[in-house]
Amino acid sequence: MSKIGVGFIGAGGIAQGQHMPAYARLSDRVELVAVADVNEQAARAAAERFRIPHVYTDYRELLRHDNIHLVVVATPNFAHREATIAALEAGKHVHCEKPLARNAREAREMVQAARRTGKLLHVSLQWRFSGVAQFLHKYVVEEGNLGEIYYARAHALRRRGIPGWGVFIDKEKQGGGPLIDIGVHILDTTLWLMGYPKPVSAFGATYTKFGNRPDVVGLMGQWDYTRFTVEDFAVGLIRLENGATITLESSFCANIQGDEFNVLLLGDKAGVFADPMCDRPVRIFTEHNRSLYDIQPINIPNINSYHANVEAVVDAVLNNKPAPVPGEHGFYLNAIMDAIYESAETGHEVPIDTSLE
Ligand SMILES: NC(=O)c1ccc[n+]([C@@H]2O[C@H](COP(=O)([O-])OP(=O)(O)OC[C@H]3O[C@@H](n4cnc5c(N)ncnc54)[C@H](O)[C@@H]3O)[C@@H](O)[C@H]2O)c1
Repeated sequence: MSKIGVGFIGAGGIAQGQHMPAYARLSDRVELVAVADVNEQAARAAAERFRIPHVYTDYRELLRHDNIHLVVVATPNFAHREATIAALEAGKHVHCEKPLARNAREAREMVQAARRTGKLLHVSLQWRFSGVAQFLHKYVVEEGNLGEIYYARAHALRRRGIPGWGVFIDKEKQGGGPLIDIGVHILDTTLWLMGYPKPVSAFGATYTKFGNRPDVVGLMGQWDYTRFTVEDFAVGLIRLENGATITLESSFCANIQGDEFNVLLLGDKAGVFADPMCDRPVRIFTEHNRSLYDIQPINIPNINSYHANVEAVVDAVLNNKPAPVPGEHGFYLNAIMDAIYESAETGHEVPIDTSLE
């Protein structure tokens, strides 16, 4: 196969803002074949903008195209499972938006479908493809420069960033709030930089202190405070099978100085503090001959992570490689987040079941 046909399920913000342009720029290897959205206007607008010939309101019609090899699922979270499994069973590879699903039960079924059909299931966790994340993976995982990593602290914090569009404030449709929406990105990057050890348990708490109030300013549009059913802050302590732990903090809204997306990794040879999605310098902390050093790498390339993410998927499909971000990782993330949400309700540490049988 020299060119792959791509179909899009969901033509909203992320599909039109990132996926369609990123696939369209690879016109030597990719053909945009069809788009489906329950909102016909959104599907038509996307088709016109990106010259996509076939438009549907029912994604099952899109799946009938023999010349579609890869389907991008960019619907709200509640619709990921059904569309992904239907696409895999129709013989298509799938590039699914993050989080893989609303919960681990749905994610497990999706991974099982990928294994059963032998098709690729890629999760759109594009932070891994940033220049900083790629540099850190080489420095930390491939070269082992931090020594044994025993602890990480991950932050995905917005000061006033409740999304004013879509269904991001609806627990039933999304599965959760900032933890599942933005916490998932920094948690994935953190685990990837630790070599993705399996999680064994989590303890957590969630709070809703702002989203259900009419007097709170919205810097990402205005949401309907009467329909806010998710947390606006979540914290978790995650135990991993190798004995390491991670604390994760995530907010849509909090009284902090400003937004923060970063990871701190502590190893017994060195530590690292970095923002995977920003140009702020990476800082490495270490000791040599009883002197303390702060090291700052200065030539980390600036990579468009959305483009690199899509290029990796296209390369995998064309060259029969495994999914660049495998469905299994999306499943582990859902399992951890389920445990944090359950712990927030019960007040106890919750064991994590990572079996995929
Ligand atoms: N990777 C990232 O950084 C990133 C950024 C933003 C959003 N996302 C993810 O992308 C997904 C969509 O988010 P968005 O911001 O584009 O939302 P959105 O609300 O702007 O768009 C979603 C679109 O899906 C359509 N839709 C709903 N149910 C459908 C169905 N059954 N079949 C076909 N279409 C359907 C809606 O009509 C809408 O047009 C979410 O899972 C979100 O978490 C990821």
